[in-house]
Amino acid sequence: MDCTEKPIKILQISDLHFGPPYVKKVGEAALRMAFELHPDAIIINGDLTQRAKREQFEAAKKYLGRLPQIPQLVIPGNHDVPLYRFLERMLDPHRLYREIIAQELNPVLKIDGAVIVGLDSTAPRTAISNGHIFKWQLDHCERALRETPSGLARIVVAHHHFAPAPDHLRDRSMPNAKRAIERFVDLNVDMILGGHLHRAYIGNSLDFYPGAHRDRGIIIAQCGTTTSRRGRGREQEKNSLNQIEVGQKTITIVHFMYFHESDSFEETSRHTFRRSSFFHTTG
Ligand SMILES: [Fe+2]
Repeated sequence: MDCTEKPIKILQISDLHFGPPYVKKVGEAALRMAFELHPDAIIINGDLTQRAKREQFEAAKKYLGRLPQIPQLVIPGNHDVPLYRFLERMLDPHRLYREIIAQELNPVLKIDGAVIVGLDSTAPRTAISNGHIFKWQLDHCERALRETPSGLARIVVAHHHFAPAPDHLRDRSMPNAKRAIERFVDLNVDMILGGHLHRAYIGNSLDFYPGAHRDRGIIIAQCGTTTSRRGRGREQEKNSLNQIEVGQKTITIVHFMYFHESDSFEETSRHTFRRSSFFHTTG
């Protein structure tokens, strides 16, 4: 971490799944952690509910209200649109999300030192679980980042993953993910934050898409499920969250997992990357 200035601290939580999979004891531990870490902003990476029901959204909203009252960026996940209420899914899939959680599905959050662009990757009319990013969303991202002064971190948040899962379980990345990654590289995006996989992956887009700009990969931080019993792969029945420290020249992602013995989230690994935009921002 740079010693020249104080890093920005961002807490990343995901896949809360309010409803039957939600584990109250772990949710309370995550809340305690959110205060202990003293973040500057909180990202909620989608799937706030299990079945997009009114009472589940209301429970999620109450939970968000108990987090530290600092800037939050929240985006929907595929579980935040109705699966079985077919008409609603076709006609107005985000009705309850918009009414209870947030009107904006592709929010932009500007904080001291960073611009964070949220993208709604749900595709309720064409896919059950998989996601999609449309070209207009990449244009929206470009508009938000075009005016970003050099030096500010550029972060994109989407529920679905742009790179395949890092294990041998089936989880294909979004269609046209490579196209999106190439656009993000052109926009000097530093980091993409995702959820959906219910297991963490912390790495770099160059692991999957070794493109033309091999010095300009994008840091990827996939968050596991923070508060539900739906963990998968290496995080089966486990819960995790990430703390992201954005320094002037580096970004450090600290991965925390929940331990029953201590009833708390504890640091399990730390990953530091060079910040691409610091070296390549064109303004
Ligand atoms: Fe999920």
